[in-house]
Amino acid sequence: MTQRFATDILIIGGGAAGLSAALHLAPHARVTVLAKGDISSGSSHWAQGGVAAVMSAEDSTQSHAQDTLTAGAGLCDPEIVDFTVRHAPEAIRSLIEIGVEFDIEDNAYHLTREGGHSFRRVLHVADATGRAITETLNQRVLDHENIELFNDRIAIDLINRSRLGRYSSRCAGAYVLNQSTGHVEVFQARFVILATGGASKVYLYTSNPDSSTGDGIAMAWRAGCRVANMEFNQFHPTCLFHPHAKSFLISEAVRGEGGVLKLKNGRRFMDRFHELGELAPRDIVARAIDHEMKRTGEDCVYLDISHRPPEFIRAHFPTIAGRCEDFGIDITREPIPVVPAAHYTCGGVLVDRNGATDVPGLFAIGEVSCTGLHGANRLASNSLLECLVFARSCADQIQTLLDEPSDHVRIPHWDESQVVDSDEDVVIAHNWDELRRFMWDYVGIVRTNKRLQRAQRRIDLLKAEIHEYYSHYRVSHDLIELRNLITVAELIVRSAMARRESRGLHYNLDYPNMLPQTDDTILFPGSMEHLTVLRPAG
Ligand code: FAD
Ligand code: SIN
Repeated sequence: MTQRFATDILIIGGGAAGLSAALHLAPHARVTVLAKGDISSGSSHWAQGGVAAVMSAEDSTQSHAQDTLTAGAGLCDPEIVDFTVRHAPEAIRSLIEIGVEFDIEDNAYHLTREGGHSFRRVLHVADATGRAITETLNQRVLDHENIELFNDRIAIDLINRSRLGRYSSRCAGAYVLNQSTGHVEVFQARFVILATGGASKVYLYTSNPDSSTGDGIAMAWRAGCRVANMEFNQFHPTCLFHPHAKSFLISEAVRGEGGVLKLKNGRRFMDRFHELGELAPRDIVARAIDHEMKRTGEDCVYLDISHRPPEFIRAHFPTIAGRCEDFGIDITREPIPVVPAAHYTCGGVLVDRNGATDVPGLFAIGEVSCTGLHGANRLASNSLLECLVFARSCADQIQTLLDEPSDHVRIPHWDESQVVDSDEDVVIAHNWDELRRFMWDYVGIVRTNKRLQRAQRRIDLLKAEIHEYYSHYRVSHDLIELRNLITVAELIVRSAMARRESRGLHYNLDYPNMLPQTDDTILFPGSMEHLTVLRPAG
């Protein structure tokens, strides 16, 4: 017997975007939030540097907007950029009101600096900003009587009514695996918000937690949404390089506070690549490091902040200093070995400024979405900001729709009559490894047409195997994620093949130049045909 839950608004994802939206909506409706794991399962919890917002008199929203547009390499939507940066101070105030204590120095918020920003404008809580934000949001969510939070639930697929024999293709909820019981449940809702984060786990090396498997992008794609700009995968220049350190980021704020990048011989190199040196936009720093590692044959480069006073380093970067110490690295005395790793998915489910997708009743906010803010490369600390601003605009939009009449539909239970328990789970693990390895090797920081074709051939093979597996065996956490990862991999490769130029995060040696004019890469569901079209306004 399938267990069923009914709610007004189902939010899939319990990171900064999902939790913020839940709090905005809870005064007006019943809200249910699902997450794959606990509070630390999303990237939000691990965010280090902070949130960008104009908070000082010498800075301006025009400057924040211009830095965002410059980083975005000609592909940002200027209206969305303007909308986001203008709402940034209000988003910060909302966090402060609910109890987030951003660092204060000399009676003012301490603003740190990160790559691509013309001013100090990043609010932070030491180097654990994400933890401070998510813990506060999570506590408020738990305290709210109108919100139910279910951890250990993994959404498998969205349910839209056309699949239920109706003309309209409105989203009506989701099928969800309860990881404690192993049973699939039905969550029925009038509105569904995807807030499932990014897809960086499609790469072998990533700064992201395990949950970043692009589930929301794949679910939306299967449900009939367009997906945009998937070729723009951001590689963070500096993740800790150590055989036992899994996914540990060394914040860009370390460079913002004076950290310098060096080769093994102690020489700096960033000045050869960009006038802003270590604080050049992220795509340029990551490519420069990749270039230097290939040129010198070394496994990593080094980030050195040891010239700053030890007490300054420990006060500003306690998490980083502590984690490095676990691996025997004293960052107050020696440089940190670092490498680039997949960090952020700039593309995603195409949405408007309220997070509305192509499917009525379905919204997407946060890293899962493509709003037009980041263009071809995201500016540092603009992601948490996007989560907060679009959580608000999406909630405001849904609130205006709550009075519309809703009809009850009976959603069929999850049919497991044709499947059996998997006899060889190890196959899933092999496919995972294979996929992430070839995505790293062929669809990484530097691409070529040949490498992209190689990746596509492997995707075709794996896709068939995974489809067969999914059709015959009971779903499991790993199988659900693998099915989504292969979809996301294909969306990335198809988008990368469609872009016949190099721009921002997408660098193809066969088309090394930037075209004078360009558009978003928009993939239409139902086919893997691509079309590049202008983004519709607003
Ligand atoms: P997430 O926080 O990733 O949350 C996703 C949620 O969805 C999780 O709860 C997950 O369990 C759930 N979920 C996923 N799939 C499913 C499913 N199928 N069913 C149910 N639940 C599901 N950005 C900044 O602006 N500033 C920073 O300083 C910064 N530092 C960063 C440092 C690190 C190490 C990382 C990895 C990222 C950083 N970023 C930073 C990026 C930023 O943290 C993320 O882009 C942002 O937090 C994404 O928030 P989100 O709410 O969209 O998704
Ligand atoms: C960092 O602290 O370097 C991450 C900031 C970001 O991804 O925006």
